[in-house]
Amino acid sequence: APSIVQEDFLSLKDYSTDEIMDLLNLAIELKKPENKYLPLLKGKVLGMIFEKSSTRTRVSFEAGMLQLGGNAMFLSSQDTQIGRGETIPDTGRVLSGYLDGLMIRTFHQSVVQELADFSSIPVINGLTDDFHPCQVLADLMTVLEHFGTLKGKKMAYIGDGNNMANSLMIGAAKVGMDISVASPAAYAPTAKMVALAKDIAQYTGSKIEITESPEQAVAGSDVVYTDVWASMGQEQETIERLQHFQGFQVNEELVKHANEDYIFMHCLPAHREEEVTTAILEGPHSVIFQEAENRLHAQKAVLVALMGDK
Ligand code: CP
Ligand code: NVA
Repeated sequence: APSIVQEDFLSLKDYSTDEIMDLLNLAIELKKPENKYLPLLKGKVLGMIFEKSSTRTRVSFEAGMLQLGGNAMFLSSQDTQIGRGETIPDTGRVLSGYLDGLMIRTFHQSVVQELADFSSIPVINGLTDDFHPCQVLADLMTVLEHFGTLKGKKMAYIGDGNNMANSLMIGAAKVGMDISVASPAAYAPTAKMVALAKDIAQYTGSKIEITESPEQAVAGSDVVYTDVWASMGQEQETIERLQHFQGFQVNEELVKHANEDYIFMHCLPAHREEEVTTAILEGPHSVIFQEAENRLHAQKAVLVALMGDK
């Protein structure tokens, strides 16, 4: 078992480099076919609160819990009393009496924090407007599998400076990867998030760069990463965002600036011919389905670390 001292998994910023590497190594162990059904969480139940849609997060957490000998429960905010205004503190205290862990996907990071503050069981962030740590753990696992190392590798993130960019900056900084984020000026990561990543990078030697030039970001990169231009909750901004992100598409022209053996990554779901072309998504450098599968393995590691017998 990894030596994780954390009670929750709310953001990678709370985890040390060693804790993250422990989780990645455990994920790689759990991915081995002979370890697929190890009953490390026999009889334990995870509740999963969703205030936004999901395919990967929901199915990988649910399958992961079953493979570990436990169970998972899908709790749509629509169909629980949360949708009728029952507070997060009350919900957290009630559910702590039934469950062994809680995953939540919601809008504000403060809601995840509040749930963790009031729950006596581990809370896992399944995506907020600010962070997506489960995705980045799977992403780092994918980079590690592909290149055999993380330290010194360079990631280029092209697109919106929100949850994925924030978590990738923090994750990269923690493990000693360099990251260059290219966004239109109005969509750059906030100064607060950049400062947070740079603070971490001081200790690991990572380089964090923010630019408005996709070509500059991609130059010399080992990983080219992108995400949708309009995230969940921003659907009404789709048209204006399509305009503002012109020139930020990942396509054959842009990846000419990457290293020859670069990999293309995307958290998915993808909007083809918007943030990325089909040729790149389906091309020989794309690892998007390995990356998606790794959500399962990385999250099983988190579940075992937080909910397993200590
Ligand atoms: N990447 C990701 O979190 O996908 P879902 O929205 O389908 O869970
Ligand atoms: N930025 C996207 C990620 C989806 C996994 C969103 O928040 O909708």
